[in-house]
Amino acid sequence: MPQQRLLDPAEELLREVCFNDIAKIPILLQQRASLTPLEKTQVGLIMIALQPKVIVETGVWRGRTTRFLSEFLTYNQITGMIYGFDFPDVIDELHEIDPFFKNVINVDFVKGALPASMKEWLAKNSSLMIDFAVVDATHSYNAVYDELALISSHLSKDGYIFCHDYDLDEKSHVGVALAVEDFCRKFDFTVMPLLSRPPTPKTDASWQAALLRRKLKPTWNQRLTHWRADARERYPRLTALIRKLRNMK
Ligand SMILES: C[S@@+](CC[C@H](N)C(=O)[O-])C[C@H]1O[C@@H](n2cnc3c(N)ncnc32)[C@H](O)[C@@H]1O
Repeated sequence: MPQQRLLDPAEELLREVCFNDIAKIPILLQQRASLTPLEKTQVGLIMIALQPKVIVETGVWRGRTTRFLSEFLTYNQITGMIYGFDFPDVIDELHEIDPFFKNVINVDFVKGALPASMKEWLAKNSSLMIDFAVVDATHSYNAVYDELALISSHLSKDGYIFCHDYDLDEKSHVGVALAVEDFCRKFDFTVMPLLSRPPTPKTDASWQAALLRRKLKPTWNQRLTHWRADARERYPRLTALIRKLRNMK
């Protein structure tokens, strides 16, 4: 008679989970050169998993992504701080254009030319670890490579970097893609290309990005345990023979 499988009572429970239970997405304010609506949503989902305490954004421009990051943290009760890097005149102009930034408590701007402004900021805050970074300032090979290298030196263990415009289809973005590739090879990061073509392509010109994270490093013990289990599964007769020989000793 076949043995009846005992069911774990928890296995029987069917649960309904709404997307809204996982993440609350603020209204997306879109403007040219900003992350697309889908990219902002992708960033939001990463932040839900990460619960970042320290976020940096290189290249703020009209603050559309900065504001999204700030509202997202508030809506989802994440107590993090966003540090936005851009030129002084761009930040001053942003304060005049968008009153949101006058009283917001989870955004701090670092005025100056990158990468020097970030080097200086990191030197002043040497104990600080970056949990999430959005890289979107100058779209040249050297600028992107230098920013990634700087950020990685202070990136927390499980930290992510979102690099905008990782794109070989657009001529002006090729340097970004090459910098990401070279950085990942040199610093042992993996790259996940992201596609976020919006439903109304005319409003947003860039819809490719990349998500970077340190490679997983399995220990030798984990590898050995895996190889043993794998060998048992692949070669059952050989495994049985070895067991038999051992028992004969
Ligand atoms: C593409 S826009 C950023 C858009 C923004 N991340 C968003 O999603 O809405 C690029 C910004 O980077 C800034 N930027 C470019 N090179 C920079 C540098 N060397 N130092 C500081 N800011 C820089 C520009 O002033 C501009 O505001």
